[in-house]
Amino acid sequence: MTALSVSTSSAASLRADALVVGVAKGPKGVVLAPGAEAVNEAFEGKLAEILGTLGATGSEGESVKVASPAGLKAAFVLAVGLGEAAEAGYDLEALRRAGGVAARTLAGVKKVALALPAESAAEVEAVALGGLLGSYAFGTYKADGNGKEPVGELVLLAARKGSKDAKAAVERAAAIGEEMNRARDLVNTAPNDLTPKSFAAIAQAAGKEHGLKVEVLDEKALTKGGFGGLLGVGNGSTNPPRLVKLAYTHPKAKATLAFIGKGITYDSGGISLKPAGHNETMKCDMAGAAAVFAAVVAAKRLGLAVNITGWLALAENMPSGSATRPGDVLRMYGGKTVEVLNTDAEGRLVLADAIVKAGEENPDVIVDVATLTGAMVLALGTRMFGVMANNDELRDNLHAIAGEVGEQSWPMPLPADLKKGMTDSTIADLANMGERMGGGLVAGLFLQEFVAEGIDWAHLDIAGPAYHESAPFGYTPKGGTASAVRTLVRFAEQTAANGKA
Ligand code: BES
Ligand code: MN
Ligand code: ZN
Repeated sequence: MTALSVSTSSAASLRADALVVGVAKGPKGVVLAPGAEAVNEAFEGKLAEILGTLGATGSEGESVKVASPAGLKAAFVLAVGLGEAAEAGYDLEALRRAGGVAARTLAGVKKVALALPAESAAEVEAVALGGLLGSYAFGTYKADGNGKEPVGELVLLAARKGSKDAKAAVERAAAIGEEMNRARDLVNTAPNDLTPKSFAAIAQAAGKEHGLKVEVLDEKALTKGGFGGLLGVGNGSTNPPRLVKLAYTHPKAKATLAFIGKGITYDSGGISLKPAGHNETMKCDMAGAAAVFAAVVAAKRLGLAVNITGWLALAENMPSGSATRPGDVLRMYGGKTVEVLNTDAEGRLVLADAIVKAGEENPDVIVDVATLTGAMVLALGTRMFGVMANNDELRDNLHAIAGEVGEQSWPMPLPADLKKGMTDSTIADLANMGERMGGGLVAGLFLQEFVAEGIDWAHLDIAGPAYHESAPFGYTPKGGTASAVRTLVRFAEQTAANGKA
């Protein structure tokens, strides 16, 4: 794992293999961003000019290397683009992305010093988090690891004044970034290795390591408890389902949050089998559970003054002689019956059980996170999650804080008239499918049916951003992204700060 640290040494004297500075688009060409002053001195004030000659423009995502002059200890300088020059300070997301581009570009380099803009603690945290996320590589299955080793060590350069705040900011970035990278590992792990049982065991081990209370309901306990949704989805698989509860409590907490993650370790569609071309990435269908897991551990590492219960609804959706059939009726936890018209609409079934179970503990807010519908991807694209809620203020707040932490989202409605198709089931309380149009909202409306009276609930449909299939950008690699972790952590922080949800 890439190590993060803070140094108050000058950029010129620090021993490192590479030195990173920021550049931006000025009115008359490329300009240096704050943090690059000492490096520029070593270039006799000509760094921007040299970089311009080498083709640098300062645009976001760009990186240009230049050999160091005699005055620098590092062998070379890497300039990364921040976009438009900003007099009043750079956007935190531009800094995260620049940190990410630097770390990705410099894979294989042992020690990297970052001289990017980092005056405020928020800026330090952004650069550090971007760097840590950009260092991510998943080499579990490759003989050579994954080509180049990730950057060994990232050193953030900070002024002596404020270096204590900088250290704290880097520690925050490490808590969030390391847990996000852990969530990415879980998503990227092949589904023959990550089963409901092995995921539950990983959660148990993490609980021991971090001092979280972890309870696991196995298939016997689920049968005894009447968890018809989890059992109905897991029936077709030789890997039985699990419901995992992770509890983080703080003595000064004034509010309790319940986070619920969809944890389908593989979604074949079941008897309503997905066609080839639609199932190759379906190991990512547990990304919601991975996000919840990471957020609870990060909250614990940050010592947030809030109680959080994380629920991981884990099952594998497979076709077989024992699989749930389209037409079967499941009796869900809590007693509602559901006619399964399409076994590929399985996420809402496992989540419904978990929502009812979580609701019994009367949390102040429930937030579920799920790769729930292809319809949400069609609506919002692959980089944005949809936010739905039974309370508009909660929905808008989650959308706003997602933006603050660099996650793209959009508020979506839950129009009651779209419920009709689901409540039309001739033999059960509900069907698991309804109107075809607005499928993402229909899925949200289905979940809402299981939220106990009086509890605020929100639903994040991360089907688009959970798994990144095209070229890496900023701090986002191919594969698992850890979508929604930062939003959940920020929501927990906000709840702790306000003393209420
Ligand atoms: N896991 C899928 C949704 C999904 C699609 C996640 C693309 C990530 C990328 C979910 O279980 C599913 O299959 N949903 C169906 C629901 C339909 C049958 C009502 C869908 O969206 O097609
Ligand atoms: Mn499905
Ligand atoms: Zn699914």
